[in-house]
Formats: sequence, structure tokens, C-alpha cells
Amino acid sequence: MNEKIPPVEASVERPPKAQELWVSASETFPEEELSRMVHDGEFTTTVRLGDRTPNSEDPKGAYHPGHFVAFRIKRPDGTFAQDIPIVITETRLEQIATMSEEALVNDPVDGDTKEKLIARLEGAYDKTITPTDIVTIVNFENADGLASVEDLLRTHVLTRAEAPLDNPKDIEFDRYTVPLIEHDYPAKTPVMWNAAYKAFGIDAGNIMLVGDPTSGEHILSALKKDEHYIGGGAGVGFKDAVVEHLDELDETATEAGSVNFILKTEAGQLRGFNTDGLGFAEGLEDLFSQNDESLTGKRMIILGSGGTGNAVASALAGKGARLTIINRTVEKARQLAEKMNERYGADTATADSEDSIATHVQTADAIINVSTKGSKGALEGYSALAPASLPANPENLEANLKSAQEIFEMIPKNAIVADVVLAGKPTPLIAEAHARGLRTMDGIPMVINQGVKAFMILHGDELAEKGFTEDDVKRVMNEAASRA
Ligand SMILES: NC(=O)c1ccc[n+]([C@@H]2O[C@H](COP(=O)([O-])OP(=O)(O)OC[C@H]3O[C@@H](n4cnc5c(N)ncnc54)[C@H](OP(=O)(O)O)[C@@H]3O)[C@@H](O)[C@H]2O)c1
Repeated sequence: MNEKIPPVEASVERPPKAQELWVSASETFPEEELSRMVHDGEFTTTVRLGDRTPNSEDPKGAYHPGHFVAFRIKRPDGTFAQDIPIVITETRLEQIATMSEEALVNDPVDGDTKEKLIARLEGAYDKTITPTDIVTIVNFENADGLASVEDLLRTHVLTRAEAPLDNPKDIEFDRYTVPLIEHDYPAKTPVMWNAAYKAFGIDAGNIMLVGDPTSGEHILSALKKDEHYIGGGAGVGFKDAVVEHLDELDETATEAGSVNFILKTEAGQLRGFNTDGLGFAEGLEDLFSQNDESLTGKRMIILGSGGTGNAVASALAGKGARLTIINRTVEKARQLAEKMNERYGADTATADSEDSIATHVQTADAIINVSTKGSKGALEGYSALAPASLPANPENLEANLKSAQEIFEMIPKNAIVADVVLAGKPTPLIAEAHARGLRTMDGIPMVINQGVKAFMILHGDELAEKGFTEDDVKRVMNEAASRA
């Protein structure tokens, strides 16, 4: 579940996100009582002096709605009790003079009057509080209480993605799949999955939600408790982040070291899969089969050794291809080649450095980019066929493209050039290969095939009962993706 690369955001100087919210225990509110009140939802508001909203410039850190922090109870002896994970649900600025005492209703420690609040603030901050002073009202909830997608949306931990076509407006389904992504972008998943649900009469919906991958543990914990959640994708940003928080990993996920799809099992466990590699291999297989050829024994040059490189190499080796793995950090290429040889036989893979590409392409049946060269951002203008020195100034770009041109001359005319990168337009590698009349495959077949495989993992039995096959799903998802 990985599609178009989200736009690179301009970096804006912001105060760091606060990591903790602490409250002092007292005779009136001892440690046990404070803890109980947070757990029971009786203590959900506190007040901080100054601006601690996300717009603030306070170096102590801002409280962002939807962000998880540690609620820390400071004992009279200066030590801290066991942290309680909480989620910030709202922050707002008030002036002491004009703030309503209603804001303090769920703030037992500050009491229910402004006088008590001022007294507490003066003690805590060791300064005189005046009516013109600004305070931040911070509302929060015990994180363990989050038990559904509805809770995650209500507390702003997740928000609905706006950009993907056919992403439902709400979650009014009896069963839903939830792909998680880090940034909103026009992903194809909702249109593909919802078209398949409709076509095969499956009463479920797919809704793509945006969240912070560093909150992965809490998000998964709530999804696990949600009886309507049946699984869904782990997209950009979540692929690595969810791995350690899942109950089980399928072999495909262990092999790739990352997860692109989560299934909730009948026992209620969350199991991670990685269908990216198989999705890519199937696209390539389709292309070779147009010439009545299979992947067995084919010589493939794999450019890159990251998470996707691992998944793709493994899927291709599993189908009998011979691999030459080339990576900027050659040690990672070596490790991947060794892993492939241990798993699929001694002569499956070799590794080499980026300056050896020219030699290896001469005998290649396919050249495959699995690196981020050519993806949106700093690497956008670079061809994956040659080393890419940053920064992306005209000199470095020219050196890369010139070198790539020379290497292209050495590629056999019947070789296939493939790129997993989706940049919204052909990558420099694909554009040049196309211009030279070579057969090419961009990242789209991989997007569709990985989705088909994930859909089959989740709904395969249901489809079989209705007489539908994986090919039917592929046809429907292909049609839907071409609309997006
Ligand atoms: N079409 C699809 O459905 C689909 C699915 C999954 C992923 N993808 C795309 O696949 C790409 C790779 O993703 P990933 O998760 O594998 O990323 P990753 O784990 O971060 O790996 C990045 C790879 O790119 C290489 N690289 C980065 N900067 C480089 C540079 N300046 N010069 C040379 N090599 C460089 C890295 O080399 P080092 O090891 O030397 O750092 C590494 O091999 C992404 O663009 C992703 O969006 C597409």
C-alpha cells in the first residue's frame, strides 16, 4: 500500500512537541487519587501558563491535539509515579480576566474557581499572575480508553484523508478496512478497494486515514479493540513504524522487514504482511509473459537495498530470477545478496557498488529501480542508472544524467526497465528508457497488484464462496485505479 509520493513540506520552525504533562501530587490529591481520576476520566483538563498551543514559540514544547504524551505525577519527594499515556484532545488560549470558570470543570487540581487556579499557578510558576496573563487550557484523555476508529477521529489522532478519490466521508460501515498514511495525498487505495467491495457485493468500506506514525502503538491498540475494523494498509510512513506493535508477522513481512498490510485475525490479533514484493514481481511476470517468457533464470539488476529492495529481491528470487544487487551503501547490498543466497540457493544473488552498473547492465534481462532516486523531492531529477550526488545542483544533476546516458547505450535492446517510484510523471529512468524504445514498467502495476494481494488475504474465502477469483479483483481494481 504505497502510492504516489506525498509532497515534501516546507520546513517551518516550530517549538518541539511536548512529551509530557506533569501534575504535582499533594495531601488533597495524593498520587493514587490523581491516577484514578485520570483513568476514570474525571481529570481531563489542566491549565498551563502562557501559550502552549501548536502556534506557540515556547521552547518547553507545544501540546498538539491528537498527540500522545506521558502524564507524570510528581510526588512530594520529587520522584515521579508510573507514567500514564494520555492523548491531547484540545488546546486553547484564554486570558485570565475573560476566561470562563466552566473551563475548569474537569480540572480538579486547579479547583473550580479562578482564585484557586491563580493560587496554583503562582505556586507552580513562582510569579504573580495578573488578569492580562494568558493561559493554555489543555484537554486530554487516558490513551488506554481509546477503543475505536471513532475515538481516534474524535481525539484528532487520525483524520480523514481528503485527497484520495472515493474516500468515504464517514465510517458508517459494519466492517471497514483502514489504510493509514502519514500525509494526505491522492492515493488510489480507497477507489480500488471500494470499487471491489461494490463489484463483489461485500458489505464493507475502505477509508483512508492520516496520522502520525510515531503514535503507531496507540493507533494499533485502538484498532485492535474496534470490532468493526478488519484490517487495512500500512502506507507511507507506517510501513516500518507498525512492525514492532503487531501481534504477528507473516513470512513476507519478516523477510521485507516492513509491513504494508494488516489483517485482524479471527482471534482478534493483528498480523502484518508485505505484499509489495509479490505485487511488483507479478507486474514484471505479466510483462515477460507477453513474450511467452517467465522470470526463471532471468538476470535482474536491482538498484537499491532499502525496505522495498528487500521485498522485491525476495519475491523475484522466489520466482527463480538471478539478481545483481547494487546499492549506494554497498554493505547493505551485500547483506541482502547473502540473505537471498541463504534462502534461495548459493548462486541466486551477487552484490556490487554503484560504479559497476555499466558492467552489469550489459547482460541484464531487467533493470529495476527500488531506490528513492527519481522520487519527489531532492532526488526527483536523478536517473537511478547512475550515482546521484546531492545537493541537486545543475552540476550534480548533469553528471548523473550524462553518466546514465552512457550506461543506457550498454543495455540490451530487449531488456525491460522498471521503476517502483511513483512521482506523478515518468521518472528520469523510465522517461529515458521509453524514449530509447525499451520496454518499461512504472510503479503503477505494483500499486494495483499489492492491493489485489492484500484484498485476497482478507476477503479471499468470501470471494471464493461467491465464485470470484484473484483475476476478477485485479480487473476491478485496475479499472478503478485508472480513474484515480
Ligand atoms: N509502486 C509502489 O507500489 C511502491 C511500493 C513501495 C515503495 N515504493 C517506492 O520505493 C522507493 C523506495 O522505498 P523504500 O521504502 O525501500 O525506501 P528506503 O527503505 O528508505 O530505501 C531507500 C533506498 O534508496 C537509496 N538511496 C537513497 N538516497 C540515495 C542517493 N542519493 N543515491 C543513491 N541511492 C539512494 C538507499 O540507499 P542507501 O542504502 O545507500 O541509503 C536505499 O537503497 C520509494 O520511492 C517508495 O515510494 C513504491
